Amino acid sequence: MNQVATGLRGQDFLAVKDLLPEDLRGLLQMAARLKSGADPGTPLGRRSIAMVFLRPSNRTRVSFEAAINRLGGHPIALFDREIELGRRESVADVGRILDRFVDGLVARIPSQRDLLGLAASMDGPVINAMTDQGHPCQILADCLTVQESVGHLAGARITFVGDGNNVCASWLEAAHVADLDLRVVTPPGYGPSEVVLAGACRSGSEGRGSVLVTNDLDEGLQDTNVIYTDVWTSMGQEDQHEDRRQDFGPYQINEGVLGRAPQGVRVMHCLPAHRGEEITDSVMDGPQSIVFDQAENRYWVQLALLAAIYGSDLS
Ligand code: CP
Ligand code: NVA
Repeated sequence: MNQVATGLRGQDFLAVKDLLPEDLRGLLQMAARLKSGADPGTPLGRRSIAMVFLRPSNRTRVSFEAAINRLGGHPIALFDREIELGRRESVADVGRILDRFVDGLVARIPSQRDLLGLAASMDGPVINAMTDQGHPCQILADCLTVQESVGHLAGARITFVGDGNNVCASWLEAAHVADLDLRVVTPPGYGPSEVVLAGACRSGSEGRGSVLVTNDLDEGLQDTNVIYTDVWTSMGQEDQHEDRRQDFGPYQINEGVLGRAPQGVRVMHCLPAHRGEEITDSVMDGPQSIVFDQAENRYWVQLALLAAIYGSDLS
């Protein structure tokens, strides 16, 4: 590799803001090389990685399992009914026990506090596979996708349209690490909190990039490269579905919205899509959509992330 993500060796990956700009660049370069056919070797040979998934997943779990297998390792998936985190056993005890059996953990856990608790109780690396407060692996894949389709990441203009929760929070962190021009468009009352906005920079760093938060979709769409959306009702918010459908209705990404955006704009979505809510079929399946390439990139960036953490010959 020309530019390596050496800072990640043996480390947790819990948030985008934990990455130095050079580590993010190195990871994306590594992912691009792997996607072009470079051989990462088998740095996970004979090692096992636990996968604790307390929420449903298609992309995250399958792409991680495939990547772990590709690197010679063995994933062990555990779900809520088995682990009953914090109910059957304390978070710290679960972490201590897993650490005796496996070489790392990929965790999708609603509570960021529980994720940090697991990370604190384990020596092995812990990777955040989504909490209610962040989705850093998703944003790695999104950055690779922007780099591929816009041609550059630094200075790219991204318009996030949706709820100011986990995916948005990780985009805010990425804006500072990757020097993005990020616009966040939400309905009134759904924007990222002041705490999230202030916490998006790595402590001790001022961050780079620029961030605009607005309720005005047209303001967010000006000169943008990418329209990015996410579900209106996230996992765990199902009881708010009807209210959210009303509140987010004017923010649907449809043909009319594409007509108000620059001609070459690309459309991204972390998926799963609730077709007919945040995005219409015609946009999702249309020529400006890159959502399936974006989903594929989950595999390549996570392959690179694991290779960097576990010390592939490539890293
Ligand atoms: N985007 C994403 O994380 O998808 P899954 O919930 O299917 O893993
Ligand atoms: N905001 C969504 C992201 C899904 C990948 C959720 O938390 O359900």
